[in-house]
Amino acid sequence: MTARILDGNALAATVRGRLAERAAALTARGVQPCLAVILVGQDPASAVYVRNKVRGCEAAGMRSLKFDYPADVAQQAVFERIAALNADPAVHGILVQLPLPPQFDADRVLEAVAPEKDVDGFHAENVGALMQGHPRFVPCTPAGVMEMLKSENVPLAGAEAVIVGRSNIVGKPMAMLLLAQSCTVTVCHSRTRDLTGHCRRADILVAAVGKAKMITGDRIKPGATVIDVGINRDASGKLCGDVDFESAKEVAGLITPVPGGVGPMTITMLLANTLVSAERALALAGGRR
Ligand code: GUN
Repeated sequence: MTARILDGNALAATVRGRLAERAAALTARGVQPCLAVILVGQDPASAVYVRNKVRGCEAAGMRSLKFDYPADVAQQAVFERIAALNADPAVHGILVQLPLPPQFDADRVLEAVAPEKDVDGFHAENVGALMQGHPRFVPCTPAGVMEMLKSENVPLAGAEAVIVGRSNIVGKPMAMLLLAQSCTVTVCHSRTRDLTGHCRRADILVAAVGKAKMITGDRIKPGATVIDVGINRDASGKLCGDVDFESAKEVAGLITPVPGGVGPMTITMLLANTLVSAERALALAGGRR
């Protein structure tokens, strides 16, 4: 069997088209959705992600502001920038690109972002809202995965969902979202015994560990939906996921490629969160600016 490919670029283009229409409608009412991105340091991968986020905003008719700081900047300067953005009514979303340099207390920085502008969904208040089952901003990568599953009508209620990876950015919120859709959720990690046994039971397998090609075809249940969140380089320097695509596609029923799978949907959900934030701001202003 050869799996169907879940094309993240195609889905992202469709969703972004709809977002652009809503952004244009808001802009016509005097509120152009605006995302502010803070980047500290020179991490090349982060620079690429941030560039794609800024470009995504522009293509959808949203504004973006980018603030670059050297890796040795004082934490206080970043706090002051966040405070100014929190107070600026023209800014609807604030994103601090991770990872931050080691002298930063990342938790404190994320908590400094106003929860109503936290389009990454990383503030404790938004994490708590997601856990309680009434999410306000959902972290973008797991939100994008849910959109992908929905677009393919993948059956969720009662399905065995296995997530490999327990990060705050992907694994944990992914578990909450799948649980909210009545999946039976297992979260695996570096200390899991019998990872293969868990993976082979999965109707839906989400790989989010950051280890190139670790999920091979023999770890996949025939016909399963396989979602690859990883972005790695293989031995020859080529971009690849956490899933060994070549062997996995012979076993899975549906599979996301890398690149062109989850990645484009992550940025799409960031744009969606920013747009929703701007719509809420307008509604809070009584529909008037
Ligand atoms: N670094 C890796 N993924 C993310 C993300 O989704 N948001 C932010 N802010 N930083 C990241």
